[in-house]
Amino acid sequence: MSDSSATGQQSKPAAKPRKFQAIKGVRDLLPAETPLWNHVEETAHAVFGTFGFSEIRLPILEPTELFARSIGLDTDVVSKEMYTFEDRDESMISLRPEATASVCRAYIEHHMQQLPQPVKLYYMGPMFRRERPQKGRYRQFHQIGAEVLGGNDSPGIDAEVIEMVMTFFDELELQGLELDINSIGCRECRAKYVEVLRSELQKVKDKLGADSQRRIDTNPLRVLDSKLPGEQEIIARLPHMAAHLCADCAEHFAEVKRQLELRGVIYRENWRLVRGLDYYMRTTFEITAQGLGSQNAVCGGGRYDGLVELLGGPPTKGIGFAIGEDRLILSLQESSKAPPPPGRDIYIAWMGDKAFATAIRAAKDLRGAGYRVELPATEQKFGKALSQADKLGSRYALILGDDEVSSGEWTLKTLADGSQKKYSESELLEYLRETSPAAQQRT
Ligand code: HAM
Repeated sequence: MSDSSATGQQSKPAAKPRKFQAIKGVRDLLPAETPLWNHVEETAHAVFGTFGFSEIRLPILEPTELFARSIGLDTDVVSKEMYTFEDRDESMISLRPEATASVCRAYIEHHMQQLPQPVKLYYMGPMFRRERPQKGRYRQFHQIGAEVLGGNDSPGIDAEVIEMVMTFFDELELQGLELDINSIGCRECRAKYVEVLRSELQKVKDKLGADSQRRIDTNPLRVLDSKLPGEQEIIARLPHMAAHLCADCAEHFAEVKRQLELRGVIYRENWRLVRGLDYYMRTTFEITAQGLGSQNAVCGGGRYDGLVELLGGPPTKGIGFAIGEDRLILSLQESSKAPPPPGRDIYIAWMGDKAFATAIRAAKDLRGAGYRVELPATEQKFGKALSQADKLGSRYALILGDDEVSSGEWTLKTLADGSQKKYSESELLEYLRETSPAAQQRT
C-alpha cells in the first residue's frame, strides 16, 4: 500500500524535472569554437616562449586578503565583484578576479628572487568577476597574461613587454589594434598630482555625476576614466599627470616611448589612462581591437614596483599585462580571421564482418600516422555512410566492403569531386601522406 493511500491523500503528479542552464555570465565553449581557443593559446605559448617567458599554472582559489591588499579595497573589483566565501576553517577565500596578485604570491612563496632575475612568467585560465554581463563582459572570463618580476626597472623591460603582446596580436592577425600608453608616476609625484586634481575637481563638483563626486574623495584619478558624456568637457580641462611627473618618472616615460619607437611599436599617448586596479605606478597601457562594441579593451597592463613588498616579499620591480581571451576571440571571429573548425581526414565506410576487422586495423594505422579518422561503430549502408562523411566535413571516404578486403584493393573516394580510385594498403598510406596537407602538418 502506498503512503498516500494510507493517509487518504491523492499522490501528486511527478514534478517536471528542472532544466538546467549555465548561470548568468558564464558559458560553454562549444566544439565549433574550441579550435580557435586552442590556436590562440598555442600561439601564446610559441610567441611568449621566443621572448624567454615560462608558463606558470596558478590556483583559482586564493585568500581574499591577497586581492584586497594588492588590487585595493576601494576598487570595483574588490568592493563589488569578487566571489568570496568562508572556507571550512572560517578563513575567507575568493575565486581569483585576476592573476597578478597570485604570480606575486607564488614569486614570494617559491623564493623566486633566488633565480636569475628578472623572472619572466606567463599564465592563462579563467578569472571571475561579478560584473553586469554584456557582449565581451562575462562573470567567468579568460585571461592570458605575462609578468616580469625582479631585476631592475629599465624602460627597456616595459617596451619589451608591450612589444611582446603586440607581436602576439600581429601573429594572430588581430584587426584594428590601438595601443594607448600613459605614465601615472611614482608614489611621490602621483600623490602631489592627486591633490592638484582633487582641488580642481572640488571646483566643478556640482557639474559631475554621483560616481565622480564620490571619487573626488576616494580616488580622484578614476574620474579621468569616466565615460559619462556630460563630464567629458570638464575632464578635458583638468591638469595632466605628465606636467606633474618627477624628473625620474618623466625620464623613464620618455625612454619607454623612445624604445617603443625603436621596436617599431605604434602607440598613442593617453593622459586619461589610469587603470582600475590600485597597484600600478609609472607605465600603464591598454590595447583595443575592432568589432567589440563598448567592451573593446582586449589587453591592459602596467608597472607595479612595490607590489611584491606589499605582499610581504623583498623589494621587487614588476610589470605585466593580461589579455581578455574571450574578447580577443570575439574580435578574431568578427573579422573572420578564425580558422574553420577541422573536419575529418578520412571516414571509413565499412560493410560486413571481415571488413570491420580490417577497418579497425586501418583506423589504428591511419590515426597512428596522424590522420583524423571516423570509424562508425555500427554497420551502415554505403549511401548513409557517405552522407554522414559529408556532414562531418571529411576529405575522403575509405570504402571497405568484404570484396575490397578479399582483393586487397581498397577504394578511396574524394568527397569534394566524387572521384574514386583503388589502392593497396601500403599505396594508400603513401598517397594520403602526399596529398593531405592537414595530416602532413601533424605528422
Ligand atoms: P584588467 O584590465 O582588469 O587587468 O583586465 C585585463 C583584461 O581582461 C581586460 O582588458 C579585458 O580584456 C579582460 N577582462 C576583464 N574583465 C573582464 C570581463 N568581466 N569579461 C571579459 N573580459 C574581461 C588585469 O586583470 C591585470 N591583472 C593586468 C595586469 C597584469 N597588469 C599587470 N600585470
